[in-house]
Amino acid sequence: MAGKKLWSGRFSQGMHKAVEEFTVSLHFDHKLYTYDIQGSIAHCRMLARQKIIAAKDANTIISALKQIEIELAGGKLKLRPEFEDIHMLIESRLIEKVGPVGGKLHTARSRNDQIALDVSLYLRDAVANTIGLVDCAQKALLGLAEKNTDVVLPGFTHMQHAQPVLFAHHLMAYFEMLGRDRDRLEGCYVRVNRMPLGAGALAGTPHPIDREYVARLLGYPEVTRNSMDTVADRDTQLEYCSCAAIIMMHLSRLCEELIIWMTPEFQFVDIADAFCTGSSIMPQKKNPDVAELVRGKTGRVYGNLMSLLTLLKSLPLAYNRDLQEDKLALFDTVETVQSCLNIMALMLPEIKVNKDKMRAATQSGFLTATDLADYLVSKKVPFRTAHEVVGKVVAHCVKTDKSLWDLKLAELQQFSLVFKSDVIHCLTIDASVNSRTCTGGTGTAAVKKALAAARAGLNKRKKFN
Ligand code: ARG
Repeated sequence: MAGKKLWSGRFSQGMHKAVEEFTVSLHFDHKLYTYDIQGSIAHCRMLARQKIIAAKDANTIISALKQIEIELAGGKLKLRPEFEDIHMLIESRLIEKVGPVGGKLHTARSRNDQIALDVSLYLRDAVANTIGLVDCAQKALLGLAEKNTDVVLPGFTHMQHAQPVLFAHHLMAYFEMLGRDRDRLEGCYVRVNRMPLGAGALAGTPHPIDREYVARLLGYPEVTRNSMDTVADRDTQLEYCSCAAIIMMHLSRLCEELIIWMTPEFQFVDIADAFCTGSSIMPQKKNPDVAELVRGKTGRVYGNLMSLLTLLKSLPLAYNRDLQEDKLALFDTVETVQSCLNIMALMLPEIKVNKDKMRAATQSGFLTATDLADYLVSKKVPFRTAHEVVGKVVAHCVKTDKSLWDLKLAELQQFSLVFKSDVIHCLTIDASVNSRTCTGGTGTAAVKKALAAARAGLNKRKKFN
């Protein structure tokens, strides 16, 4: 096979070898082959049902397409660059197998709406799989949080000790982020779930096609509404890449924390050996490379989003060959974000939480200073005044190298006579944590409620794959 191009009628010269190599997309769009065949079979069924081609021809074409799928799955068809793209490879092979009747498949269809359909089918699966993987990562976070409801650590702002929080609360912050990621992907799924075939090259087709039938065959609830938009639109690719960029940003923040927490300075966590790597020179090393790689891959996923946005900027209607380039960014994004979610879901349950180190870290940094100010507020002192008083108390502690809870009542009363003996109850780490009972706060009761709600929510989620 190969040789003459399927579109070469109006050409008097063959294609320059360099142009062939320059324009080819087969080396990456071959990934779409099952979708291309699935789409072609549905199209062919519709052509026969509408009597646009004979039922006998449709059957010949469909059984050959099924064989070609097996050939491609088994690596039997060479991906020679002469074929340009996956559509041409499959169509050429079809004609080679069944003769000129194979040429009827492309009736009422253009590669422009064909590629839109292939990518739509691919992306619909990719979105569903990504949602499944987000669920797995969320389950891993929730599981780790549920196992550690009694672990307290310093909460940080500006990377400085701020207020004590439950480790479970900290983890559930990431659960929330991924929950929003899931919502965004669900929205993307709705928009990707519209069947594009039938737009033709750009203007639709004069043949009496039945787009709704093709949609039904391929499990789409609706068809796209404007043929020009359909062949020019890459919004769902863009949307997926932007959802993925945000997911990666979330994972990267979590990874950064794990990396910091695993340093000898922190020792808050230890990541299981199976998820770490050694050094080729320093025998003592155990490095959190998985977390570092997730953080590193984030840059590439952002880059893919930027290349897609730039690709689409100023592109006139309708189809332009520029659009072929979208797949490189899309495939890389799908593969990267899915592998990152997957590895995170595997690694998180294997994290050993060092409860004592986290607790010990809460002893420095005056984590209950806000509680002390809130104590004064509860005695009707205006918050600004309370802030000032406690600021002075903290300065005194720094000077005398004491913690807030080391101070005797008389010492505190040098700063305000509002302090009474009950002040002691607001100074401990546990009292601080447990006083934060408001919805969304770190109090043990609030966190347990949040964990139960998260678990119930996960259990009744709609399955996408
Ligand atoms: N390989 C092309 C792409 O990925 C398929 C559509 C080609 N259409 C065309 N008119 N050359 O976009």
